[in-house]
Amino acid sequence: MSGTRHAGARVIVALDYPDAAPALEFVSRISPDQCRLKVGKELFTSAGPDLVRHLSGQGFDVFLDLKYHDIPNTVANACRAATGLGVWMLNVHALGGRRMLEAAAAAVGAVSKPPLLVAVTILTSMDASDLESIGLGGTPEEHVLELASLARDCGLDGVVCSSRETAVLRERCGNDFQLVTPGIRPAGSAADDQRRVMTPADAIRNGSNYLVIGRPVTQADDPSAVLLTINSELAALS
Ligand code: C5P
Repeated sequence: MSGTRHAGARVIVALDYPDAAPALEFVSRISPDQCRLKVGKELFTSAGPDLVRHLSGQGFDVFLDLKYHDIPNTVANACRAATGLGVWMLNVHALGGRRMLEAAAAAVGAVSKPPLLVAVTILTSMDASDLESIGLGGTPEEHVLELASLARDCGLDGVVCSSRETAVLRERCGNDFQLVTPGIRPAGSAADDQRRVMTPADAIRNGSNYLVIGRPVTQADDPSAVLLTINSELAALS
């Protein structure tokens, strides 16, 4: 599955803006051959599907990061609606379970150019004590592996995961499974509120397919130059 226009682009810039105006101002300073774009809950809630259509119309591949988690029928219908926006990637919560994941995969697979469908496993904000408090024993790592395997078995294309998990997930889920990793920081840039970060080159070496990068690009004086540097570093790896 994937109707990508930019097969080589590994960087997905997180458009973490409160509304359309600053997002569009940022986007006017970069080009679709430098990166893809992620639209999450905040921006989608304020700017809506029109912004997603606009970004796609400008030639950007859009990852719609709404992490659907509901009964199978509702998630399947939401996925179908997302495909109608022309997005390149979308995601659901693996904790929705097998029937929900299969329904999502079937809905996405039914369109003529299916976007990539990936799952969120355990949110990286949750540690073992958070899991215990909702009745889940075991470590986050164990659940991440189990949920990633489930997502793959249900026909999803990959998972969003920490760059620390990519090596083991690559081994467990195979080379065709797409690993999308946030928590990326180019050498020398601030970690912000991310606890464990990895450079773009190290994340790709560890097995990531796509890197989600927000503030190091969106808050840069010259975002295009930052993207150029990251992309040159990544090009040197292959
Ligand atoms: O600015 P920064 O590079 O930290 O942004 C990372 C993006 O990836 C944000 O949109 C954040 O919500 C998202 N993300 C994350 N960690 C996860 C899942 C998503 O940082 N585990």
